Amino acid sequence: MRLINNPVSNFKVIIYQKQNDIGYITLNRPEALNAYNLQMRDELYQVLRAIKDDPEVKVAILNGAGARAFCAGADLTEFLTAPSPAVARQVRWERDIWGLFLSINKPLIAALHGYVLGSGIEIALCCDIRLASEDTQFGLPEVGLGIIPAAGGSQTLPRIIGRAKALEILLTGRWIKAEEALRLKLVNQVVSRKELLPIAERLANKIKTHNPIAVSHAKQAITRGLDLSLEQGLELEARLGGAIISPQQR
Ligand code: COA
Repeated sequence: MRLINNPVSNFKVIIYQKQNDIGYITLNRPEALNAYNLQMRDELYQVLRAIKDDPEVKVAILNGAGARAFCAGADLTEFLTAPSPAVARQVRWERDIWGLFLSINKPLIAALHGYVLGSGIEIALCCDIRLASEDTQFGLPEVGLGIIPAAGGSQTLPRIIGRAKALEILLTGRWIKAEEALRLKLVNQVVSRKELLPIAERLANKIKTHNPIAVSHAKQAITRGLDLSLEQGLELEARLGGAIISPQQR
């Protein structure tokens, strides 16, 4: 990875770096396969806010530290065991963080490798472009654990791969390898491990050459438009397109 060593803050389980208009977010608990714990949620929340608000960041890349995983899901040592005040806090953070993720109007690229389970998939589904290395394995183990996805997965997955496949994967808990993920359009591209970050950077570099307002409005037209009727979507497109020409309409 061609990053200069300029971490923006002293987080414990996230590394956040900025370089050449790109924000790099690395989930950084490799000893626990980057399992998503409360600390990671709190730090990720701060990083996402920074990405949303920082005009120097035109596009962001998310990845996972270590050789084995992007993220092996919710931290099972915290999971289903927290006392109720902690659960309440967890729920609040979950709501906030997934809403925040989906409210970012800048392009987010997920560079996935190894295990991408539970919250790991859900994080990836909040991104706009997903690249996977050939060793990637996806799974939603929640139903097998007696729960359902809590980070938007039951809504984002069918919007990406369709209802029938989303139901099959969620209800059976079957794991999906990279090639099948590509066929299902869960990922945009499967690449070698060596090429994962360089290709993510190439995409980010291409996107950031474009007018950031046009990029942001194009993202909104597609992501927000998909939840609307065609008629409403066309109105949204006209509004967003018009606002580029007349910024006061934004
Ligand atoms: N939460 C907390 N710790 C986790 C974790 C998770 N979701 N997933 C992995 N880890 C930890 C393991 O406890 C282990 O820690 P240790 O070395 O201190 O014992 C370390 O990461 C390596 O995992 P390990 O299970 O030894 O690797 P493996 O190759 O045998 O198995 C997995 C890999 C992904 C199959 C297995 O770790 C697993 O099933 N993890 C849980 C996945 C899951 O159900 N996530 C919740 C989704 S809701």
